[in-house]
Amino acid sequence: MTISNDEFFRGVTRRICSSLDIQVAMKRSFDYLQGCLPLDEIYLDIMDSQLGAIRRIVHLAKAEREPAEEIVPLPENIWDWGQSMTEPLILDGRNLSGSSKTMAAIVKLEGNSDLAIPLWMENKLIGTLILRAYGEGRYHQEHAELLSIVVEPFALALSNALSYREVLRLRDNLIDDNRFLNRELFSQVGDAIVGGNSGLRNVMEMARQVAPLANTVLLMGETGTGKEVIANTIHFNSPRKEGPFIKVNCGAIPESLIDSELFGHEKGAFTGATSIKRGRFERANGGTIFLDEIGELPFQAQVRLLRVLQNREIERVGGERPIAVDIRIIAATHRNLESMVSENRFREDLWFRLNVFPIIVPPLRQRKEDVPALTRHFVELKCRELGIANPPGIAPGALIRLTNYAWPGNVRELENLVERELIRHRGGQLRFDTLLPDEQNAVTEAGGGNLEEGPLGLDEVMAAHINKVLDMTEGKIHGPGGAAELLNINPHTLRGRMNKLGIKYGRRKTS
Ligand SMILES: Nc1ncnc2c1ncn2[C@@H]1O[C@H](COP(=O)(O)OP(=O)(O)O)[C@@H](O)[C@H]1O
Ligand SMILES: [Mg+2]
Repeated sequence: MTISNDEFFRGVTRRICSSLDIQVAMKRSFDYLQGCLPLDEIYLDIMDSQLGAIRRIVHLAKAEREPAEEIVPLPENIWDWGQSMTEPLILDGRNLSGSSKTMAAIVKLEGNSDLAIPLWMENKLIGTLILRAYGEGRYHQEHAELLSIVVEPFALALSNALSYREVLRLRDNLIDDNRFLNRELFSQVGDAIVGGNSGLRNVMEMARQVAPLANTVLLMGETGTGKEVIANTIHFNSPRKEGPFIKVNCGAIPESLIDSELFGHEKGAFTGATSIKRGRFERANGGTIFLDEIGELPFQAQVRLLRVLQNREIERVGGERPIAVDIRIIAATHRNLESMVSENRFREDLWFRLNVFPIIVPPLRQRKEDVPALTRHFVELKCRELGIANPPGIAPGALIRLTNYAWPGNVRELENLVERELIRHRGGQLRFDTLLPDEQNAVTEAGGGNLEEGPLGLDEVMAAHINKVLDMTEGKIHGPGGAAELLNINPHTLRGRMNKLGIKYGRRKTS
């Protein structure tokens, strides 16, 4: 051996530290080491304690074949023996006994010589470097001593490579999760706006108008009317659709946490702030932030929100400098913000800032024509969610009753009702007869007649029933919410029957 220890240390260190890609760095080291000592193959192993196995992450041979990462399971006693290795070890057919003999069989020594160098880092064995030379008796104590010089660079390189791999893996996971969640959100939105051409036509028209722009949108309407659905639509039809869509329920965050939730905090900003936290505004950068139930925002937080709206920058709690954010803001509330302003519960300046483009989502009772389609939509959706293979039909009488109900809880109430009905359903059509509050049900008992005057004829019952339904639909026969849909028959059939029964048609506005 002609090379000095210093030169050897420098030569190896330069190569093993030459790339973050451990394969590349090992290949360079391998080429260099071949000039210094007997060497035909080199392995870099890590001890995977979860698998109880050696994970061979690099395997280079003279013959240039690079097999995929191998996993070599170890019996428990051999694992413990490997873990206790602190000094370089020479495995050689001529001096094997006990554990080293078992190990030689496991690593397929087969008449060759191995020099194994345990790589310790801060009192932890993170892996093993193994040099192999073909034939017996190739390694001696001087080789072991030479390699001992470069344990640290190898250990450091391995440890960095592992951290780097982990970071890449986490990053790929995050990118993948993000794509998945975005697609999920989008698919929930994409096909699911029922009534976009009927009861929600105006709302959808406004949403489409405003979506491509960057301005603030305020959605107003009772709870359960679909404000969040509209917010989704606006985001996913905007140029920001690939960016984040961050939702904040202003009523659900405890007042003491609002600032750090919305604006984030620096490490050490207060007790418990053990690391940096990005707030929701920062997370929404490049996308949209949806401030739901904005009316519940405490007064102090309103001041800070106003500042964000004005300056488009935020300041983390405990932060020294403002951070610019590129966000679109959509706010929603079921409250009457204007009267909250006059009661001094909502800041007037904030109200002006938010009220640039208000969209009012009407309550379901003002768009009853959507009830049948929504009901069918939820039957299908909930069957999928509940794993019901064959969605049951809906009894026509039930649709009439549902349409006639006042829906104080709006679309959400209908959604919940359908779900409950499906869970309780025991075959046949869905009747919804035990679930609806029945103050409204009287209307549907069409053609009951007054029995004292004798029973009505079937035609009379039918005519009375059709008339009642026509009253409900204000004379509408065709299309969503029309009488034909409610009665679950073809509109032409209905007209034919009305002709026969002498029921006049044409829109009769009941005002
Ligand atoms: N037009 C619609 N089409 C389909 N589903 C709707 C529609 N409007 C509301 N929903 C559903 O009803 C529920 C309540 O809507 P949501 O947007 O949360 O109401 P809000 O935010 O106004 O309280 C949600 O599950 C939503 O998916
Ligand atoms: Mg909501």
